[in-house]
Amino acid sequence: MAILVTGGAGYIGSAMVERLLASGRSVVVLDNLSRGHREAVPASVPLEVGDVCDPAFVSRVFDTHPVDAVFHFAAESLVGESMTDPGKYFRNNVGGVLTLLETMASHTARRFVLSSTAATYGDPEEVPIQETFPTQPTNPYGESKLICERLLHWFGRIHGIRWTSLRYFNAAGATPTVGEDHSPETHLIPLALDAAFGRRDPLRVFGLDYPTPDGTCVRDYIHIEDLADAHLLALEYQERSEWGIFNLGNGQGFSVLEVIESVQRVSGRRVPWEPAERRAGDPPRLVASSERARKELGWNPKRDSLDEIIASALRWRDAHPNGYGD
Ligand SMILES: NC(=O)c1ccc[n+]([C@@H]2O[C@H](COP(=O)([O-])OP(=O)(O)OC[C@H]3O[C@@H](n4cnc5c(N)ncnc54)[C@H](O)[C@@H]3O)[C@@H](O)[C@H]2O)c1
Repeated sequence: MAILVTGGAGYIGSAMVERLLASGRSVVVLDNLSRGHREAVPASVPLEVGDVCDPAFVSRVFDTHPVDAVFHFAAESLVGESMTDPGKYFRNNVGGVLTLLETMASHTARRFVLSSTAATYGDPEEVPIQETFPTQPTNPYGESKLICERLLHWFGRIHGIRWTSLRYFNAAGATPTVGEDHSPETHLIPLALDAAFGRRDPLRVFGLDYPTPDGTCVRDYIHIEDLADAHLLALEYQERSEWGIFNLGNGQGFSVLEVIESVQRVSGRRVPWEPAERRAGDPPRLVASSERARKELGWNPKRDSLDEIIASALRWRDAHPNGYGD
């Protein structure tokens, strides 16, 4: 049997594929390559190029490969873009999950793991955020993932699909072979690294007047290999439980300025930066409590030092200064 990794040519999905291969599983990747890279998928892995919202295409993939579980990474995930083009987020993110679930219902696959997000919580009243906190997204991206969780609930009840929603906080870092190469890049660590090496203009720090100790936004950074480990544990968890929602983060918050300091420490270079307006829909502090994942999944993130996470990203960027274009 095989695990279908949608978005497996993307940043986190490609680390997942690598982890699955290392654990001896059979893998199929589905990706439309809109944001992913063919080079990120090992030649030994079947790559089905097409849209996860296309029912005929997805059905063909399930007819061709013996899929028994789906790890669903394929989505649009730019918070800012979702505030200007909400339709794209609901169509792609909700449409993708609906298409997969309907296809699963008419095939034999009964296990699903969703890449959800901290953005489902919106602007929490306190941190660390627990799964029991209210979900009040402040942008259509977070809302689209919350709707996906509701779809899972109903398809779980009606079609017996076991499901896990993993609400990641900020994915970061690299493995020796796969790393972050988004276009446009919006994530802080690769932007700060590129600014440090003069590969782009000074970093723009969005908002210096947030109610945080240094005025910049605070986020929780979690290594992509720790995220991949959690997916495998989620599959095991599905043997004993029909569904579950878990935060995945380190439980430690770092401000934008602290990340800049860490990049400077690790790279030995200054990060040029300039203040910029706040971005719409950006909550001041998002820090996870991952106690539930630790207790119930047995998850134990191993790469929890910010410097170590950034050092892994720097090593990958050094080896691929132009991303997968090299
Ligand atoms: N990166 C983060 O910090 C973060 C945080 C929380 C949640 N997530 C979630 O994790 C998942 C992966 O994020 P990422 O950073 O690896 O993103 P990414 O953009 O690098 O990867 C997404 C992949 O999905 C593909 N894709 C997008 N729409 C598609 C469609 N309609 N059909 C087929 N393929 C499609 C893209 O080509 C890309 O390869 C997303 O669902 C995202 O919402 C990411």
